[in-house]
Amino acid sequence: MRLPLSKYVWFDGKFILRDKAMIPITTHAIHYGTSIFEGIRAYWNGKNLFVFRLDDHVKRFRRSGQFYNILLNFSDKEVTDAITGICKKNKIKKSCYIRPFYFVGDYGINLHVTEKAPTNMAIFSFPFGDLFNKNGITAGVVSWRKFSDMSTPPQAKMGGNYLNSIIATQEAKRNGYDEAILLDHNGNVSEAPGENIFIVREGQLITPPLSSSALEGITRDTIIKIGKDLDMDVLEKDVTRNELIISDEIFLTGTAAEITPIISMDDKKIGNGKPGNITKKMMEEYSDIVMDKNEDYSHWLTPVY
Ligand SMILES: Cc1ncc(COP(=O)(O)O)c(C=O)c1O
Repeated sequence: MRLPLSKYVWFDGKFILRDKAMIPITTHAIHYGTSIFEGIRAYWNGKNLFVFRLDDHVKRFRRSGQFYNILLNFSDKEVTDAITGICKKNKIKKSCYIRPFYFVGDYGINLHVTEKAPTNMAIFSFPFGDLFNKNGITAGVVSWRKFSDMSTPPQAKMGGNYLNSIIATQEAKRNGYDEAILLDHNGNVSEAPGENIFIVREGQLITPPLSSSALEGITRDTIIKIGKDLDMDVLEKDVTRNELIISDEIFLTGTAAEITPIISMDDKKIGNGKPGNITKKMMEEYSDIVMDKNEDYSHWLTPVY
């Protein structure tokens, strides 16, 4: 699938035409997955384009590389300006997805990556609507386990880590599900290939802890904060596979997936097989926040224009 990329991309400090962005075949990241990326959304509300939680994305962007001493050669301000800049340069007035990434460049076949390894950074963007059916999707637990801190750091949002997501997705699709759920190294629920997971039981909002190798998702954090602000019980605790099946509601969170209800898990209906009330409330709150309709959270929005 070719993405409908905006005309200009950003590459190592400059805006260039998308077809002019080229890298050598010896690029280290292609061979070893030494790339770091963020997925960011910007929302057009008819008046302005708002980038959601930009500062938090930039923070995680830099931190991911630090696990491996891979340097981001641009300051937080430069990265922030480049991200809003790509929207301005392309005159974007539609909700879109923005993908900044940096990677180890021409570094031979050397596995000893140090701060001295050359890195490049780029950003592209494309118009983006719903990733999943917002009326609800099916999910199934897969046999592949989420990798843990015992092998590679789950909090580093790096290209190589996503092979685990890819093989999990392949298995879920083969089994006829829309999305995979991965268990952690202890057999508790971790997350989906590109989303965090929440369950609702007896009115409590529960999500697996980071010790279950879940990514510290920015949407996960958003839902935790909204839940607490609504005076709900929000718990970060181990979730067993069994609890998934008997939960009243399940939803996924992620920049791309936003809030997506799961209406069937391992072929068992969740609740009445429709998005539950708490899930629907979270979807509404989230959509109001990103569209600048709730001023309590407007500090999470960076206006582009
Ligand atoms: C593995 C994984 N988990 C969770 C998430 C959700 O994170 P966020 O809400 O920051 O997009 C993502 C997406 O970035 C992801 O790739």
